[in-house]
Amino acid sequence: MISSEIAPYAKVGGLADVVSSLSKELAQREHEVKIICPLYGFIATDSNWQEQKDLLSLKMNDSGQEFCRIWRVNECESKAALYFLENEKYFGENQIYHTNEANNEKIGQRFVFFSRAAIEFCRHSEWTPDIIHCHDWMTGIVPIYLKLVEKDERLSEIPTVLTIHNIQHQGIFDRKMLDFAQMPQTPLIIETLGFEGSINFLKGGILCSKKLIAVSERYAYEIVNTKLGYGLDAVLGSRKKDLIGILNGIDTTIWNPEIDQYIPKNFKVDDMSGKKECKKFLQRHFNLEEREDIAIFAVVARLYWQKGLDLLLDIIPRLMNEEKLQIVVLGTGESDWEERFKTFALEYEGQIGVNIGHNQRLPHLIEAGSDFFLMPSRFEPCGLSQMYSMVYGSIPIVHATGGLIDTVEPYQSKTMPGTGFMFEEATSEALYKAILKACDIFYHNNNIYRLMQVRGMKKDFSWKKSVEKHENVYLSAQ
Ligand code: GLC
Repeated sequence: MISSEIAPYAKVGGLADVVSSLSKELAQREHEVKIICPLYGFIATDSNWQEQKDLLSLKMNDSGQEFCRIWRVNECESKAALYFLENEKYFGENQIYHTNEANNEKIGQRFVFFSRAAIEFCRHSEWTPDIIHCHDWMTGIVPIYLKLVEKDERLSEIPTVLTIHNIQHQGIFDRKMLDFAQMPQTPLIIETLGFEGSINFLKGGILCSKKLIAVSERYAYEIVNTKLGYGLDAVLGSRKKDLIGILNGIDTTIWNPEIDQYIPKNFKVDDMSGKKECKKFLQRHFNLEEREDIAIFAVVARLYWQKGLDLLLDIIPRLMNEEKLQIVVLGTGESDWEERFKTFALEYEGQIGVNIGHNQRLPHLIEAGSDFFLMPSRFEPCGLSQMYSMVYGSIPIVHATGGLIDTVEPYQSKTMPGTGFMFEEATSEALYKAILKACDIFYHNNNIYRLMQVRGMKKDFSWKKSVEKHENVYLSAQ
């Protein structure tokens, strides 16, 4: 596995959780899994880690050399071996991805360098993997090297699999990035990577990988057939027979209310008393009125356009005036959205709680203590939080898109209650109506609420099925 993120060390989004939990699951099934990730500045090395005695050496195009130290991490719960590559110049800065156009090029160089280093890691070791599995554009660069640049047959013949977690981010750079990457400007390379006058690493990755995975079946359809392909729909269409949608699983040793160590009281579907305690804790944590009879609607998300939280921001005053409910929000992102949420928390003190930040434990308490979980995402390739929320008895309210369609059974009627509420259009009006419906069920038809909760809590979102599908892809790639 070659990845730009790995939980719990380096996480921006679900990619980190997925690479970590999928690797763990594969290793448990006796596959030999090695994960390679950059050692970013914020990751502190640990005295238990083993520093490997050799350094990787990479020739740069200014004829200088760069070196990478290799750290092997011994993770007690996982049989997968995790390796961090250390290079101060390219990985040392704290921000994993670019935050503005000005440092876009730097980030491009970071992942070009990382992709080369990962290949050097394989060259250097005697171990030849049966499969190299890459994730998104950041490491989708690896299959391009292996197919178009690499001369050593031992490496160039290793089959590659590329998972698309989010096609909105493609790694688009000026052509001069090819010089840095030491990719010759041959017609083949230009044709493979060229994109609207620039180069596009994800496009190249899609064309050079042996097999492609999208993180849900619905997303596999959307990126080929709708505008959610973000300009790569035709390229993907040309690889349709090698593209498969496989729903991500969740790590049920971490996300399970019966054993979760981050929540004040555990609970299970036939004994929900612990959930009541969690709700009380959650209200206390966010300084909300401690009332069991008021529904809590929760958000845990990156505050970016994709996640559609402006749709919620736009209706907060209406909701607060017309309905009885509480809202809790955890996340960071657009400063404008952060400010708006903070202002609402002051204005509606006791009803809205906002935490602008990252936190490893708090999402667990939020899932456990809330009654509803909001995901108005404009698009959502898979989404993990709606699965966590169902398992924790917090009913998801979601926009009908991507993995949300594949995981949430929409409420249709009292006789077909499903596991959550789904709205078709990504508008604040549609979200508003869905929240009103949810309130109606919570306050006036609590038996239906309970039916939905039980149905969600009994769902199996573990990796079991999806890991077998991955194994089939690996086999078919060989
Ligand atoms: C990206 C997608 C998200 C998906 C995650 C893991 O963050 O936006 O929908 O769950 O990757 O695959």
